[in-house]
Amino acid sequence: MLNPEKLPFTSKIVPVIVITDASYAVDLAWALLAGGVDVMEITLRHPAGLESIQKVAVQVPKMCVAAGTVTTSQECRQAFDQGARLAFSPGVSHDLLHTATTHHLPLIPGVMTPSEVMQCREQGFRLLKFFPAAQAGGIPMLQALHGPFSDTQFCPTGGIHLSNMSSYLQLANVAMVGGSWLTPLPLLIDRQWSEITRLAQEASASI
Ligand code: 3PG
Repeated sequence: MLNPEKLPFTSKIVPVIVITDASYAVDLAWALLAGGVDVMEITLRHPAGLESIQKVAVQVPKMCVAAGTVTTSQECRQAFDQGARLAFSPGVSHDLLHTATTHHLPLIPGVMTPSEVMQCREQGFRLLKFFPAAQAGGIPMLQALHGPFSDTQFCPTGGIHLSNMSSYLQLANVAMVGGSWLTPLPLLIDRQWSEITRLAQEASASI
């Protein structure tokens, strides 16, 4: 189970990434590290996701590689088998929580309601993804959740970008934020690594 006080990375920003070709995953990891971002969430939305996780895990040990868009127990096990250090899911299911707790897999389950927070807390999860953050009520909703669930930390994702991330990070129950703005697909496809580094530096400097 992940302890929000002892995370295996230092960045407060988690890039949420769709990689369409595993051959550039390692270069992308180095570009993010150069910008001060030492965690990356590689989603399983594209078939290249699992291979990308494996390449980064083996070739860039300084990068904390996370799997994203993990929606089933099978995907969860596959991601950790490929070397993922943690996994994010967009929502919760009994099977997924059961697999993570039974096999001691560091999963950050996704929630958007108090009932889902309670379901996760019952299983011992204290670090949750708040998704989709903007649509689920954004900052006022996170503030409201802090009352009944003051021991629970969140990673809001969805609608977070450079101009609003600091407001989220100032909340007492926000451990980090996630977003796709650091890694736009056209930049990845064109292998614009210096621009990715610049976006990562810009975000790191804005906290
Ligand atoms: C996610 O997959 O976690 C979100 O879709 C990322 O949301 P964003 O594109 O609004 O940053």
